[in-house]
Amino acid sequence: MSDNLHQLRCFGCGARIAGAEAQPDFRCAECGDLFEVEYPGWNQRKGNDRPNAGALKWLWRERRCSSEVLDHSGVWRFRELLPILENFGNAVTLQEGNTPLYPLLRASKALGIDQLYAKHQGMNPTGSFKDTGMTAALSVAKERGFEWVACASTGNTSAAMAAYAARAGLRCLVLIPEGKIAWGKLAQAMDYGAVTCQLKTDFDGCLSLLTEIVKQAPIYLLNSVNPYRLEGQKTPAFEIAEAFDWNVPDHLIVPGGNLGNSSALGKGFREMHELGLVARMPRISVIQAAGANPLVRSFENSHGSVLEPVEAKTRATAIRIGNPASWRKAVRVIQDTDGWCLDVNEAEIAIAKAELGAEGLGCEPASAVTLAGLKKLRAEGKIGSAETVVLVLTGHTLKDADYTIDFHRGTLLKEEETVGLEAMIDGLRRNARAVEATPSAVLATLKG
Ligand code: F0G
Repeated sequence: MSDNLHQLRCFGCGARIAGAEAQPDFRCAECGDLFEVEYPGWNQRKGNDRPNAGALKWLWRERRCSSEVLDHSGVWRFRELLPILENFGNAVTLQEGNTPLYPLLRASKALGIDQLYAKHQGMNPTGSFKDTGMTAALSVAKERGFEWVACASTGNTSAAMAAYAARAGLRCLVLIPEGKIAWGKLAQAMDYGAVTCQLKTDFDGCLSLLTEIVKQAPIYLLNSVNPYRLEGQKTPAFEIAEAFDWNVPDHLIVPGGNLGNSSALGKGFREMHELGLVARMPRISVIQAAGANPLVRSFENSHGSVLEPVEAKTRATAIRIGNPASWRKAVRVIQDTDGWCLDVNEAEIAIAKAELGAEGLGCEPASAVTLAGLKKLRAEGKIGSAETVVLVLTGHTLKDADYTIDFHRGTLLKEEETVGLEAMIDGLRRNARAVEATPSAVLATLKG
């Protein structure tokens, strides 16, 4: 029996096609927009193919104690809501997902928000949220018989793709912007055996080049334009709802780069709502770096109806993206949930990242935009003290150790970026000290 119950629907013109009919660049042949996966059976009355909310909640919880490998994945544990494979036995998994939801104790006190949490997606097998999407889309590639997979990346997608391709025995091609990704991520792609090309262009240039390449060779594209990526990336929404006993938080705050993740999480909550698993949606807000803020500008200039690409510039290299592919989907999520879209500057990102570090969590700079954005939303009175807030931390702190070390050494930010913030930054910096190798010298460092 086939496990496969899906079709693809164009986000722009609504055209519907079978999954295997998609073009190599995953663009609609009619209008050029992106596809979303949809499950026609879900629109039927209860029974048949429409999942039963109560039964699912029970089943998913039971699977936490199961000895089946697939049940150990925080993505495939929810497989009834992503029936995208002919046979779930083809799933390629590294036991991704099931990531921790940490209470943020210090930040919650500082901001006067009682219920503040971080969903740490950096605790996935390759250290970022990309694993949840990669297990889904790479499994499709494997099932459909592809030998090569490829992505353009700011680093995390390539690390995830390379790992899953290695597990599946597929070859993989990575295109990255030369000199603009963190070393930890490049090291992963090399370690997992990817063919890695550093190109003299930015992420947007890498993605448009790859779009041409996949039209000329049988290579399966694994960027988030691939709608199966988003099916995997929607599952943290299920985990969050489950963690709150199916009462969703009031706010979810997500970083925005190519805008696949915000789109995916929005889809996850929307589907849970439509299937009666939860009673409402959280407000979903997207935060960008001020130097890579095309979506923020789009809301300011055209209420999200037109997106002008920008030349992206931020030290948060993961979200150094000027022409995000999934922007229309993200606009829908923000508008449907009454969320906000705002940007934060380089000093705000660095401070927020250090504050998360000081809580014992740590994350990538791109993830820290969520806390920086929350501070702004709180200051503007958009989030109340009694509301529940979840920040999505997308990447592990060790992905970009250079950034962290530069911050603590005081070499990250330029003087003009820190005006008025010097005391706050000094209070957060913890540079390593050169100390004589004697007990008294070491003990002396504990004073003051
Ligand atoms: N946070 C991290 C750590 C990321 O790596 C990315 C994207 C984002 C946030 C933004 O997510 O693109 O779905 O809006 N990284 C991609 C990559 C582009 O190639 O690894 P998004």
